[in-house]
Amino acid sequence: MIIAPSVLTADLSDLAKACQKAVDAGLDWLHLDVMDGNFVPNLTFGPPVIKALRKTLGDGPTFDAHLMISNAEESFQQYIDAGCNHISVHVEAVTHLHRLVTAIRQAGASVGVVLNPATPVEAALEVLSEIDLVLIMSVNPGFGGQSFIPTVEKKIRVLNAAISEQISAGGRPVQIQVDGGVKSHNIAMLRDWGVTNCVVGSGLFNDSRALIDNLAIIHKALE
Ligand code: DX5
Ligand code: ZN
Repeated sequence: MIIAPSVLTADLSDLAKACQKAVDAGLDWLHLDVMDGNFVPNLTFGPPVIKALRKTLGDGPTFDAHLMISNAEESFQQYIDAGCNHISVHVEAVTHLHRLVTAIRQAGASVGVVLNPATPVEAALEVLSEIDLVLIMSVNPGFGGQSFIPTVEKKIRVLNAAISEQISAGGRPVQIQVDGGVKSHNIAMLRDWGVTNCVVGSGLFNDSRALIDNLAIIHKALE
């Protein structure tokens, strides 16, 4: 299970330090929540900040960009140029999904598609042979610290079966990532459903405990 820390609830005035803490704790996938104030009602950071983070953190960590933006088709290259290794795009925000995921792969990044809680899983199945990851949103995107929506279970199970079938037929493996409200109390359940990659924001970055202690609790839950 990959734990991908989302820095949204960390101290954003010292973003590099928050990321470094996660890397020092052994988490080398950093989930970067990019919001444009248009596709979602919140605004975070974009390519210049990501480029600066890459400079400070070095080449080690995998930068997983979750693009909650309306113009990914025009701007994805900027995120790759800024140092993102992985790009996930929302199916709800893209007109030509197949064309876009192919273009992202050709540009040298791994690629994922994201499904909002009310989006059916079929949208991802149509491009399953072309992608590396499906991100199932278990909250409505835009804010950290929201509650997990349990109805995503069905989507995850359908997806897991489709991926197994694809692998049996000699096709590519695809990660299932879940984002939103993932905590120590539900992470083992997600693993049992077939999830291989969990985004954790407020479960790691909060005021009640240090990141390293929160991570130990999560690891314990997965034992
Ligand atoms: C929501 C973001 C998430 C989220 C995770 O729009 O994509 O990455 O902030 O934070 P928690 O774990 O607090 O729900
Ligand atoms: Zn996210």
